[in-house]
Amino acid sequence: MNLKLSYIAIETNKFEQWKEFSRVIGYQFETSEDAAFLRMDEKERRILLVKGDSEDYAFCGLEASSEDHFWTLVDELKSEGIEVSQGAPEGTKLRAVEKYVSFIDPAGLTVEICLGSQNSDSEFASPSLPAGFVTGELGMGHIAFAVPNNRESEEFYIRVLGARISDHINTGMAGGTVELSFIHFNPRHHTFAFASAEGIPPEVVKANFSKRINHFMCELPHLSDVLRAQARLKEANYPMALTLGEHPNDRDISFYVVTPSGFALELGAGAIHIDDDTWVPERYDVMSLWGHEFQL
Ligand SMILES: [Fe+2]
Repeated sequence: MNLKLSYIAIETNKFEQWKEFSRVIGYQFETSEDAAFLRMDEKERRILLVKGDSEDYAFCGLEASSEDHFWTLVDELKSEGIEVSQGAPEGTKLRAVEKYVSFIDPAGLTVEICLGSQNSDSEFASPSLPAGFVTGELGMGHIAFAVPNNRESEEFYIRVLGARISDHINTGMAGGTVELSFIHFNPRHHTFAFASAEGIPPEVVKANFSKRINHFMCELPHLSDVLRAQARLKEANYPMALTLGEHPNDRDISFYVVTPSGFALELGAGAIHIDDDTWVPERYDVMSLWGHEFQL
């Protein structure tokens, strides 16, 4: 019974900037009364923009594989003593799901379990990305969070929601250290990464760890799609957070662009998939095999 990342919501007031940013990359931008949506595929909702001042992660939804799976996870959360809130009708409409529940994880992040994400009436159509994004059973991508204690976050999702460890990266960063835990719920190498930093300078903290989210990642079908997206964003003068490079664990080739909300979006291709029957978690001491140079 796999979970998959169905949607991510970002709290922002920069709707016009996000609209242009998403057009350059190739998302399909749609609006409702008080929210906007960046479509990536046949689903109604993938990236939600909701009004607010934080310019940060608001919540995300992990879709259960069945009604039984959904209620099993609700029971698991409740048996941990975690308060689980049932989604209201206006919330299900915003998320275009049949039902959802919401809870606060040990790092203070709002996370939801959902069921029945709806397809749109219209086909996904993107002039810049005619082949779209890589989603389906892998979910819409991954999210990297800045958390107080990555081990505590990792342990919670493994114990309560059935996640599996992918690997760890422990590395030096700007005179301090950072440890990352990568966890998966399905064959996508990781759905969540949790980063905790120690002893790094304030300006590096500000650029990378001052928001709940460090970045989220969307996968493109081919490396040429990644390079073309990078060229379009550079042409439009969007600042890069990290240059093109390759991580040692998921092996995708990616770059990081600064979103209108100030955190990064990673666009990559070629990430490996995990088979839990044969997977052996590794520990790496570098963030990247090559590239991924800091630009900020
Ligand atoms: Fe990433």
